[in-house]
Amino acid sequence: MVGVRGLEPPAPWSQTRYANQTALHPVALKRELFFEILKNHPCMWSGIICKNFYFVKSFCIILLKKLGFVMKISRFSRIGFILATAGSAVGLGNIWKFPYMTGEYGGGAFVLTYLITILLIGFAVLVAEITIGALGRLDTVSSFEKLSNNKNWKYAGFMGMNGLIIMIFYSVVIGWILHYIFSSIFYGLPENIQTAQDKFSNLIANEVGIQILWHTIATFIVLYFVHKGIKQGIEKLNIILMPSLIIILLGMLIYSMNLDGFAKSINFMFSPDWSKIDSDVIIRAIGHAFFTLSLGMGAIMTYSASLPKHINITKTALIVTFMDTIIALIAGLMIFAFLFEFGESPSKGPGLVFISMPVIFAQLGYMGIFFALIFFLALAFAGLTSAVSLVEPSVQYLITRLKISRLRATVFSGIFYYILGLSALLSYTSSWGEIFSISGTPLFDIYEFTTDSILLPLGGILMAIFVGYVLPKDQVKKLLSDEMGKYYPIWRFSIKFIAPISIFIMMLSLIGIL
Ligand code: PHE
Repeated sequence: MVGVRGLEPPAPWSQTRYANQTALHPVALKRELFFEILKNHPCMWSGIICKNFYFVKSFCIILLKKLGFVMKISRFSRIGFILATAGSAVGLGNIWKFPYMTGEYGGGAFVLTYLITILLIGFAVLVAEITIGALGRLDTVSSFEKLSNNKNWKYAGFMGMNGLIIMIFYSVVIGWILHYIFSSIFYGLPENIQTAQDKFSNLIANEVGIQILWHTIATFIVLYFVHKGIKQGIEKLNIILMPSLIIILLGMLIYSMNLDGFAKSINFMFSPDWSKIDSDVIIRAIGHAFFTLSLGMGAIMTYSASLPKHINITKTALIVTFMDTIIALIAGLMIFAFLFEFGESPSKGPGLVFISMPVIFAQLGYMGIFFALIFFLALAFAGLTSAVSLVEPSVQYLITRLKISRLRATVFSGIFYYILGLSALLSYTSSWGEIFSISGTPLFDIYEFTTDSILLPLGGILMAIFVGYVLPKDQVKKLLSDEMGKYYPIWRFSIKFIAPISIFIMMLSLIGIL
């Protein structure tokens, strides 16, 4: 057997490999010991295993993966990553929330504050969030823990759980959308605004069973794609739905451009009435900028942990910011064009797209049903691609920290938001509304306000401080300075000063100090 051992190649586990390393990682140490024993073992197999170490190792890993014992670490493809990140950003925030908030908070003034925030803070924080994910390559808690010496930073990583709080109301809204797709096909469209208003109010106030049914279906769809994993679930979903969403919206925009209401729509969205700007408008616009770019809760960070090897972070962030902003503006322009065309008022709150759009489509005859269908499909697509990104951070956390399977992690996260989702859903109903409200405010609104105006900006400030002050300067510079060139110092200035200070001011004014 000595002869067999004599054939050994320079062993990868031999001392020479680690010769210049002072201390060995405990795992490497154990491996060394194992091979030392194997090498000196008198049986023929030990020599053969040592000789073919790499072959045997890859064979074993493939076998274990096939048997499901080893977690497959999958990475996005480049286009998959861009589409998934854009898919996370472009969501109900763009098509459902942005238009109704613009309508409620005075049109142009809100749009302008939102655009400035995206430009000054949003983009910089987006790059910061991708950077933490790309360097950490783990779930949000573990990434913060790994990248800093102060272990308390890991608590910042719990921002990843905020996604489940957003899902509490997000899933209910996806449920409404699915219900509207179904009812447009089978029950047609409401003929006038009063019927539409009644239909929507009746749905949210009285149809508890129907809402629960659609909330359940929405939950199942989202969890199905999350449990399939990054590559087979999330990437596939985005690669199919995102291009479809863009095509539908562009088609509808082109149609709405021919309406007389289009000029009024442009006027409403782009000529700010300065008297309407107050601290409330500013808080809501900054909060919305975070919400719409999916910032401050670790969704993007979690996706970036599966970043493909060669990807330009800055370019990706630019594409995502551009797509997200353009899609919100297109959705707004189109919806207001339809609204003004038919003489409707833009301030209808969360029911805006559910009340006005069906009536407007009804005026278009048979084509209207088709329009309604593709409009609500687009909304559903946008919602689903964001929803998976809201659940994924918690799932990743549970998989890595609690070492449970993806399926279990998905089910636990799902149960959490599904049950609390019922409280959001019931808070708008007439029979349960009072029980599920706090001093008269429905829980639905409380979940929404707390996440977009408090938790996301708070997450954003922590990320800006972490990248600006905690991560080693050289590490960040190495990653980004080539990509950004002469703009790198501007980004750094923004992440160190502009972003944290403006979010801080916003928070002070939120709690009434300013
Ligand atoms: N950006 C999503 C939207 O616009 C919502 C979202 C927020 C998704 C935070 C992930 C993280 O609807």
